[in-house]
Amino acid sequence: MKKLVLVTGGTGYIGSHTAVELIKSGYQVLIADNLMNSRIEVLEGIREITGTRPYFEEFDLCDMQKLNACCRKYKNIEAIIHFAALKAVGESVSHPLEYYENNLVSMINLLKAMRDFQIPNLVFSSSCTVYGQPEVLPVTEEAPVQKAASPYGNTKQISEEMIADFLATDDGYRAISLRYFNPVGAHQSALIGEYPIGPPLNLIPIITQTLIGKRSELHVFGNDYDTPDGTGIRDYIYVVDLARAHVAAINRLTGQAGTEPFEVFNLGTGKGLSVLEIIRTFEKVLQRKVNYKISPRRPGDIGCIYADASKANKVLGWEATTPLEEVVLSSWHWEQQIKRKSIL
Ligand code: NAD
Ligand code: WQD
Repeated sequence: MKKLVLVTGGTGYIGSHTAVELIKSGYQVLIADNLMNSRIEVLEGIREITGTRPYFEEFDLCDMQKLNACCRKYKNIEAIIHFAALKAVGESVSHPLEYYENNLVSMINLLKAMRDFQIPNLVFSSSCTVYGQPEVLPVTEEAPVQKAASPYGNTKQISEEMIADFLATDDGYRAISLRYFNPVGAHQSALIGEYPIGPPLNLIPIITQTLIGKRSELHVFGNDYDTPDGTGIRDYIYVVDLARAHVAAINRLTGQAGTEPFEVFNLGTGKGLSVLEIIRTFEKVLQRKVNYKISPRRPGDIGCIYADASKANKVLGWEATTPLEEVVLSSWHWEQQIKRKSIL
C-alpha cells in the first residue's frame, strides 16, 4: 500500500512542487492548507502533471479541532511535511504577533497531532536565515545559529527547538529540518509555480515582472557590500531540486535509515551568485535587457551567504543538479503563464 504523507501548506510554492515529486515517487499526498497565500487551482496543476489529484482539506492549522478531525479522517498518515507558515521577513517585523501566532501555534498543533495520532515522522521547512551573516562560508550545519534578525527567522529557530524538545520525550518520533537557501524557478511544465496572493518580494519574480512590464524597474539593493561586484550574494536553489530533497528526507525517515532522531540539512547549490550575476544570466538567456538601477541597501539584508550542502549529498544522496539557465527559463515561462491567467 502507498504511504500517505500530510503536506501542510501544500498548495503553496514549495509545497506544490514537493507534492508533485512525492506522487511521482509513489507516495499518496494529503494537502492541508487554508489558502491564505495560495490558490485552489494548484490542485489541478498537480493533477495535470502527475495524473493524480492529491487529497485536500482546507483549514487553518491553528485550529486544533479541525486538525484532529483531519487526522481522524485519514487514519494512516506516515509522515508530515510542514511547509505552512507566513514567510515575509519585512512583514514579520511590522506584524510580529501574527507571525508568532500563525507559525508557532500551527507547529505546536502538529506536534500534538503527531503525539495523539502516533504519526512518527516530520520534515520541517527551515531557512538559512537561522545562520544570520555567517563568519565562515560556505556555511555548514555546524555554524552557530545566531540571534534571529526578524520575528519570522525567530519562528524558525523556536520551531526547531520545539521539535527537538518534543523528540526527546519519546524514542518513536523522528524529524528532519531542511534549511533552504533561496528557492527559485517553477515547474518545467509551467503548470505550477510561485503564485502568491500579494505582490512577490523576492529577487527572481521581481526580475521577471520587470521583464514582462508589470514593473518599470528593478531596484538593486546596494552595491557597496564586501563582494566582488558589491551586490549581495545568495545561493539560488531550483524549487524542483529542493522538492526532490523532501522526497529523499521522507524516504530516509519512513525507511528507518539513520540513527539520530533529529537531523538538520542545508539545501543549496553550494555556489553563491551576486544580484548582478543573476541579472546578467537573465539577459543572456532571454536576450532582453533588465531595466535596473542601484538603490540603497534593504534594511536587514546580509551581504553574502551560500551553502555547504555536502551533508545532504552524503546522507540523503541528494544534490542540486539543474543548471541556472534552465531555472531562468522556467521562471520566465511561469511569469508568462501568470500573465495569461490574469487575462483570462
Ligand atoms: P507559500 O506562502 O507559497 O506556502 C505556504 C502555504 O502555507 C500557503 O499555501 C499558505 O496558504 C499556507 N498556510 C500558511 N499558514 C497556514 C495555516 N495556519 N494553516 C494552513 N495553511 C497555512 O510559501 P513557500 O515559499 O512555499 O514556503 C514554504 C515554507 O518554506 C515556509 O515554511 C517558509 O517559511 C519556508 N521557506 C521558504 C523560503 C522561500 O524563499 N520561499 C525560504 C526558506 C524557507
Ligand atoms: C535576494 C538578493 C537582495 C529584491 C529571503 C528571506 C529568507 C528566505 C529566502 C525564507 C538580496 C536582492 C532583492 C529586489 C534586490 N526566506 N534584491 N532587489 O532576502 O536573500 O532571502 O528569501 O526563509 O529568509 O529573507 O531573498 O530574493 O529577497 O533577495 O536587489 O527587488 O536580491 O538584496 O541580495 P533574501 P531575496
